[in-house]
Amino acid sequence: MTHALLLVGSPRGKKSTSTSVGSYLLNILDKKGLETDTLWITRQLADDEKLSQMLNAVDHADIIILTAPLYDDCQPYIVIRTMEAIAAQRKNLGYKRFIPIINCAFQEPEHITAVAISIYHKFATTVGFKWAGSLAIGGGEMLQGKSGKTLDEIGKMARKVKKVLERIADALAADNSFPDESVRAVPDFLYKPFMKKVLAWMNKYDWKSRAKKNGGVVDARPYSQ
Ligand SMILES: Cc1cc2nc3c(=O)[nH]c(=O)nc-3n(C[C@H](O)[C@H](O)[C@H](O)COP(=O)(O)O)c2cc1C
Repeated sequence: MTHALLLVGSPRGKKSTSTSVGSYLLNILDKKGLETDTLWITRQLADDEKLSQMLNAVDHADIIILTAPLYDDCQPYIVIRTMEAIAAQRKNLGYKRFIPIINCAFQEPEHITAVAISIYHKFATTVGFKWAGSLAIGGGEMLQGKSGKTLDEIGKMARKVKKVLERIADALAADNSFPDESVRAVPDFLYKPFMKKVLAWMNKYDWKSRAKKNGGVVDARPYSQ
């Protein structure tokens, strides 16, 4: 039986967009008859025993799905640590398929595809994984993973992302690769010029009031004279 392992690379752990996206995909694979398992990297790095448990799980999997957020245009530290550990082990990895599914806060998935996907690709080819495609999700916070909600629970907002995940599940279950794709979680109507202005205003208001609450002087220009 084909075994799919989901590695969740969000430091937020279970309540994260990486978890909700990964769980949605894994549930479909499960229904399609694949054997599935999930590990949260942040827990597996707690000690050597848990780390070797994660490396063994990678050893036994046929498909490795990595879901993670984008941090500073790159990988979070816990994901880098995991990639290094897998690379150091490098056992029987040749037949395994690897697919990273990365989400970021900015609406444009280009923040992910510009650098991070190439790093994942380099990692995959270095350890000998077969690249099974990738997905870059812009506007990941719209999926409300940090509140612990599933994609089904948040309704229409997740529609676009769910459709792509369903296509990924079809491809993985049929032993096919998936192309490198991008999707914006943000609904298209929010991209109308008027809505962009409203959102920019709301963001500015939010940042300013948060700064004020924390004693920040947002209009300060200490170096202007
Ligand atoms: C330290 C840090 C760095 C981040 N860097 C970026 C970034 O470069 N670009 C971006 O769009 N979002 C960035 N984010 C936001 C996360 O990618 C975003 O909140 C994501 O939806 C979190 O996913 P998760 O719930 O799976 O952890 C950053 C967040 C943190 C905490």
